[in-house]
Amino acid sequence: MKVTVHRIAHFNAAHRLYNAEWTDARNAQVFGKCANPNFHGHNYELIVGLTGAIHPETGFVMDMKVLKQVIEDEIEAKFDHKNLNIEVEAFKTLNPTAENIAVIIWQILRAKIDNQLEIEVTLYETPRNFVTYKGTL
Ligand code: NI
Repeated sequence: MKVTVHRIAHFNAAHRLYNAEWTDARNAQVFGKCANPNFHGHNYELIVGLTGAIHPETGFVMDMKVLKQVIEDEIEAKFDHKNLNIEVEAFKTLNPTAENIAVIIWQILRAKIDNQLEIEVTLYETPRNFVTYKGTL
């Protein structure tokens, strides 16, 4: 029997979507306002889902206090109020789309959370646009 637990977190961050191989005109055509050279911000909503067995001694899939702390230390502290393109190493060479941010968050969490638990990252870039990533398995 497997159960999924979820934790919601939040961060504000700035980014610019841009492909350095392209002309400014093509960047503007594909990325629209998100190609603005002076960056712009989003209020990102992050939902982390963990699926696994209920531990017989605790009744937990994972202690949510611990999950909360991992998300605070590994994601919020690194992403909140940051310029993602400039201040987050991964996005110096990777376009910080919601898709890529979700994958990077998944990879960071995967290194910190028990391998017995499956991780699903849901990332809202706007209230209407969101992406999900469950890893490559
Ligand atoms: Ni944007």
